[in-house]
Amino acid sequence: MVDDLVASLRGHGASAGGGVTRLVYSQAWAAAMAEIEGWLGSAGLEVRVDAAGSRFGRLAGERPQVVMSGSHVDSVVGGGAYDGALGVAMAACAVRWLRETAGRPRLTLEVLANCEEESSRFACNFWGSRAMLGLIRPGECDLLRDADGVTIGEAMSALGLVPDRIAEARRDDVCAYVEPHIEQGPLLERLGLTIGVVDRVVGVRQLRFELRGEAGHAGTIPMAARRDALTGAAELVLAGEALARDLGQPAVATVGALRVEPGGANQVPGRVDLTVDFRHVDERVLAGMEEELRRRAAALAAARGLELSVEPRLGQRAVDLDGRLCALLEASCRRAGVRWQRMPSHAGHDAQLLATRWPSAMLFLPCAGGRSHRPDERADMDDVVRGVEVLALTLHELAYEA
Ligand code: GLV
Ligand code: MN
Ligand code: MN
Repeated sequence: MVDDLVASLRGHGASAGGGVTRLVYSQAWAAAMAEIEGWLGSAGLEVRVDAAGSRFGRLAGERPQVVMSGSHVDSVVGGGAYDGALGVAMAACAVRWLRETAGRPRLTLEVLANCEEESSRFACNFWGSRAMLGLIRPGECDLLRDADGVTIGEAMSALGLVPDRIAEARRDDVCAYVEPHIEQGPLLERLGLTIGVVDRVVGVRQLRFELRGEAGHAGTIPMAARRDALTGAAELVLAGEALARDLGQPAVATVGALRVEPGGANQVPGRVDLTVDFRHVDERVLAGMEEELRRRAAALAAARGLELSVEPRLGQRAVDLDGRLCALLEASCRRAGVRWQRMPSHAGHDAQLLATRWPSAMLFLPCAGGRSHRPDERADMDDVVRGVEVLALTLHELAYEA
C-alpha cells in the first residue's frame, strides 16, 4: 500500500527524465496535497488544512495532546519520489493500521503532510514547521520571492490560502513528533541494517555571495584589464571545497546554484550570484566555517578588484533529538526483530526545528546506493513495510499506552 501512495504521488511534478519537481504552492504541489487529503479521508481520519497549507489527518483520542508523525510534500528540482513523500505515506499507513486494529487512542494521533521543507522555491527555512511553531515573522510573506519574483504570499493566495492568517497555524498541543524518512546516504544499506534511529541532525547554513566586476567584450579586453566576476566565483567555489576537505568528515560544502550575467559566451562575466551550502554536526565548527568562507571571499574579491556582497540564505541549527523517543524507537526495532543502529543525519529535516519545541525523533530507512535529491532515489519496499511496523509500534506506545 505504501508503494502505491508513493508511486501515485510521483505523478505530481513528474518530469520527462523520471525526476520529481514539486515546489511549494505550485500546481503539482496542490494536486499532491489534494491526493493526500483523499488518502487521509479514506483512512478514516479527520482532514484539516492549516493556514500555511499543510495537511493533517487526525485520529482523535481521549485527550487533546497530539502525537504527530509525517514529513514534507515539496521536493527539490529534479528530485526523487521518496524524499518527504515516503514519510507522509508511512505515517498515513501506520495511523490507519492503528485505527483499524487498536481503535481510539488515549492521546490524539495526527499524520502530517508538511507543506514545505526544501527551500527549493523560496529561501523559506522550513516554512510549514516554522508556521506550526509561530516563527514566521510579520511581513515575511511579502519579502520572500522565488526566481520569477513571485512572493510566497502571492503564491499562497493563488491557491486560496490567506497569508495574513499564517499565525493561526501555530500549534501548542503537540507532545511528540516522529518523522520517518529515507536516509539519503549509504550507511544503512552498506551495513545491511533496516532502520537508523537518528539521534542528531546536522547544522546547515547557506550564504549567498554576489560578485560584481565589469562586463565587456570577450575579444577586445586584455586579460590584464579585466574584472571577471566568474573567475572570482570559481576561486570561491574551490575555496569552499578546500575548506571542507581540510576540516575532513563530516564537514561538507557545496555550490549547487550559480548565475552568471550577462551570460553570453562572448561576454566577460560582469556579475555572479552563487550560494554555498555548508554543513557540520558541531555548531561551533559550522560558525568557524562561515567566518572562514566570508574571509576568503573578501580576500579574493579584493585581489581581483571585485565588489562583494554576502547575505545568509538559510540557517538550520544542529540539534540532538529526544533521548526518550530514540529509546522507544529502539525498543520498537527490537520488538519488530529488525536490525538498527543509532546515527546522525547529514541532511536537514523538519524534525531539527520541531525538536527545539517538541520532543522529536526520526527513523531512517535505507536508500538504494545512498542516492537522493536525484531522480533514481529509491527505497526497498520490504524495508518500508518493516519501517511502518516500527513506526506503528512506536506510535502505539506513545498514544495508546500513555
Ligand atoms: C534537505 O533535504 C537538505 O538537507 O537540504
Ligand atoms: Mn530533501
Ligand atoms: Mn526530506
